[in-house]
This record gives sequence, structure tokens and C-alpha cells, in this order.
Amino acid sequence: MDGLAAEREQGITIDVAYRYFSTDRRKFIVADCPGHEQYTRNMATGASTADLAVVLVDARKGLLTQTRRHSYIVSLLGIRNVLLAVNKMDLVDYDQAVFDDIVEGYRELAAQLGIANVQYIPLSALKGDNMMSPSQAMPWYQGPSLLEHLETVDIGEGRTDGVMRLPVQWVCRPNQNFRGFAGTLAAGSVATGDEVVVLPSGRRSKVARIVTADGDLDRAYRGQPVTLTLADEVDVSRGDVIAGTENPPQVADQFAAHLLWMSDTPLLPGRPYWLKIGARTVSAQITEIKHKIDVNTQAHLAAKHLDLNEVAYCNLSLDQPIAFESYAENHSLGAFILIDRQSNGTVGAGTLDFALRRAANIHWQHIEVDKQARARLKGQSPRCLWFTGLSGAGKSTIANLVEKRLHALGHHTYLLDGDNVRHGLNKDLGFTDEDRVENIRRVAEVARLMTDAGLVVLVSFISPFQAERRMAREMFAEGEFLEVFVDAPLAVAEQRDVKGLYAKARAGKIKNFTGIDSPYEAPLAPEIHLRTDQAEAGELAAAVVDRLLESMD
Ligand code: ADX
Repeated sequence: MDGLAAEREQGITIDVAYRYFSTDRRKFIVADCPGHEQYTRNMATGASTADLAVVLVDARKGLLTQTRRHSYIVSLLGIRNVLLAVNKMDLVDYDQAVFDDIVEGYRELAAQLGIANVQYIPLSALKGDNMMSPSQAMPWYQGPSLLEHLETVDIGEGRTDGVMRLPVQWVCRPNQNFRGFAGTLAAGSVATGDEVVVLPSGRRSKVARIVTADGDLDRAYRGQPVTLTLADEVDVSRGDVIAGTENPPQVADQFAAHLLWMSDTPLLPGRPYWLKIGARTVSAQITEIKHKIDVNTQAHLAAKHLDLNEVAYCNLSLDQPIAFESYAENHSLGAFILIDRQSNGTVGAGTLDFALRRAANIHWQHIEVDKQARARLKGQSPRCLWFTGLSGAGKSTIANLVEKRLHALGHHTYLLDGDNVRHGLNKDLGFTDEDRVENIRRVAEVARLMTDAGLVVLVSFISPFQAERRMAREMFAEGEFLEVFVDAPLAVAEQRDVKGLYAKARAGKIKNFTGIDSPYEAPLAPEIHLRTDQAEAGELAAAVVDRLLESMD
């Protein structure tokens, strides 16, 4: 633990230590995970690829909180085999009653958590009892030794039952005549001539060839890397899944899922992340945290965001449908990671439970009068001018002047102002990070509807986070969204203090005030950058109008 403490002080991530050994019968990789609560993400990393978990219990202490936590993570990650190693039996005089008590307690826990296969072994690691061979000191125990169990336990290797699934990692096109789809078979087996379906498109074809580095095969099995060619010219892209036609994976874009948060920056519902599943990466949002789960007790708790190492049951929504299976059925098509879109770091890991049906029954209704038609009648090109900046930077003042000028020029406009929208549509929202994300998500949707109506929309919101401004931008067509950074140094905004809010924030009467105790992330590449401490508002407004009209030509 000293080493870990030192690593923590230096802010280094504690990794899982991998150790290797082999016997005549099997090769082993031991993922040695730190077990403390603050290393939950490391434990999950180690456990995510494991066939079996050894949960260690001290015979003197019995089942502890950490036994419960470790077993919960094991069940969360779908490890089917647990070996409950009851160690230090020498210190309890090799007493069968102590062992039986612990076994009884763990049976109950395993049943609650749905862990099916548990082997219980009484041990003394120090003395070697039941480690490599049966113990003389515990004649009452008839089961296998630790090593014997590890060598013989059924971990489903070489299993080829189930329907074929090939997540396509790479489309291989060395020349005009060859088009192959490469990946590792995630389940089942495949033979030439088999009928297959490509997901999510649903197109069907037959397997023409199974190409490998060692020549063509007639049949390939789970775990084998292969390149398939198909009999027809069907469109297959990286990230698609080729599957057998009987009972193929489902396709959906909304899910219930378990999620473990692995980042110091909290998870905020509504914020877009990349979701990577199999070979596919799509944009995803957590739409709702149903509850978070206390990893020690499995109690369900209410939550609006997730912090590092927290686990929750969530609804999530993708921007396009994917082929998937529940994690319980197939680990490779049911496990995902979430990636931060700014830093590209992994921030979460999760498992899909089931598809939410709600979206499946809602279709997009085609409307004949479209955006172009509406805009034409108004004689303008729809635009969204997105003003962002600190409170008191001058957003509303300038947006107001811009709208007046546009109106005078005969343009059809609407100004959405943060303070005003928070009186109505967003009156249920405060100023926590998660509420600000939702505030921006809603107003961006409204602004998009208004441009769809053919309007020039002005949005004047602090919108302090890059992630949500980027999300807003991506809702609009290319060139339709103009980000206006209304820039004034904090000291200047604070000095103006038109609404007296900075004074209140400094006095501690308002919490989470932007610039004081809540961050503002300045835009890196806004279309328009206004310095309100260096020029007069009328001048800056005129510059915005010029730039806007230029964009309409
Ligand atoms: S945003 O951060 O969610 O985009 P928004 O623009 O809607 O904020 O609202 C900001 C306005 O709310 C400010 O102009 C200010 O008048 C008022 N306000 C009240 N409390 C706060 C706070 N804690 N932080 C920032 N603005 C606040």
C-alpha cells in the first residue's frame, strides 16, 4: 500500500499488475487488482477480461464489506466463475465450522448477485494447505486444491455453439477484385456457403470465401481472426456486424445499461460522449441516471451526476442504431466504453442490458413545407448566432442591438436570452453543472426548431462548457451556426456587475457562479470574437451583422 499511496500522491494512475505462469495443463494470466474502493475502476479493468475471479477471504475475519464490493464488480462484469479462497485456516485451527459459516454466508451473497459457479476452498497460503495439493490438516475437505481447480474449471474455451457474429474491424480492399471483411469471430462458427445478414443495414448475402493468413478455410470458429468475402456486392463498413441469419443480434439506438464512471470529471446526463462497442464508435448521451449503486451494499441511490468510481444504472441514447446483444448473452457485443470528445480519454465503461422500445415505435414524419421553403418566403438564410461569455460580458446588450438592426433590415429574427428562457421553459433548472448541460441542450433544440422555421435565431446564454457548445453546433447544417465569443476579462464583468450578482457571489450568497466558483471554458475557435472592454457595443453589433450578412451571400 505504501507504493500505491506514493503513486496516488503523484497523481499517477494505478494500473493492474499482470503476472504470468503456466502449468502442464493451462496457461494463466493473473490480473492483480488493487482492492480499495478508490481503485474500483482498476479492478473493473482487470476483471473485464477475466474468466475466473479469486475472491480472497481471511478465515478469521469472514465476509467483509470489500468481499461484497469485489463480488459485485465480478457480477457486474459477468465473470461466471468465482473461487472463494478462505485463507489463513491455520490461524483458526483448521476448524471446519469456521469454513462452513463463511461458505453459507457467501452462498447467500452469490445468489443475490447472480453468480452461478462458485468453488469454495479452505487454504493456508503460508503453509501450503490445499494450494497445490490436498491438505493433510483438513481431512474434512474433499474438494480440489486451488491449482487443481484452476487447471480444470470449465471456462467455455473452444465453445462454438451459438450463432455466428463477426464484428467487422476492417474492410480490406487491396484491389478492384477483392473486397473482404476482417475481424475476429465473436461467437459460433462460419462455413462457406452460409447465409449471413449484415447489421445494422439488414442486407443478406452468402459467405463466398473464408480467407486467413494460412490460406482459405471451409469453416472457422469463435476466437479465430478471419476475412470473409460475400457472394453479393453488399455495403459493409467498419463497425458493422456480420451474423448468422438465425437469431441475429438486435439493432437499436436506446438502451438500459450499467455504467462505471472512470474519470475525475463527472458524468453529466445530456452531454455527448463517444461510445465504442465492438469495432463501432458512435455519439451517445446518458439520457437518465435511473439510480446509482453503492458498490459496498448494492443499495440504490438517487443521482444527478456520477463521480469517479461510481456505478449506475442508466438509460442511454445513440445518434445512430447499432447491432448489439445484452452483455449477459455476448460480452463482445454487449460491452462498451465511453470516450471524452475533447480529450479522447476513456471516461467510462459499461454493459448493455436491453434495448428501450420507445424509440422504435416513433417514426420521422415527413412534412412537405420544408426549411428552404419557409426561408425563401422570408427572403433570408436561416442562421443561429450563438453568443457565449461571462455574465456581465455584454451578451444580451450586443445580441439586442444585433436583433434591432436585423429587424430594421427586414429580417425575421428571434432572440433567446438565458434569463428569459429560465423564466419559462427552463424554470426547473438551476446552476449545477448538470442543470447547465440540460439548459443548453434544450435551448439548442429550440434554436434548431427556429432555424427550421426559417428564422435567424440569436441565442444569448453563458453556455460555459465547450462540450455543449459543440453539441449545439453539430445540430445545425454546415455554415448555419456562428459562435460569437463575447469576451470581457472577469475583472471587467465583475466591476460592471449590472445585476449585483457578482457581489452576492463573492459574499457567498450565490453558489456556482460562473467565473467565481464555477468554470467558464472560453471558445478556442469562435467565428466571431468580440472584446467588449476594448470597443463600444454599437460597433461590435455592427461587426456581427456584417459577418452574418456575409455568411448569407
Ligand atoms: S448557463 O450557464 O446555463 O448558460 P444562463 O445564460 O442560462 O446560464 O443564465 C445565466 C444568467 O443567470 C446570468 O446572466 C445571471 O443573470 C443569472 N444567474 C443566477 N445565478 C447564476 C449563477 N450561479 N451563475 C451564472 N449566472 C447566474
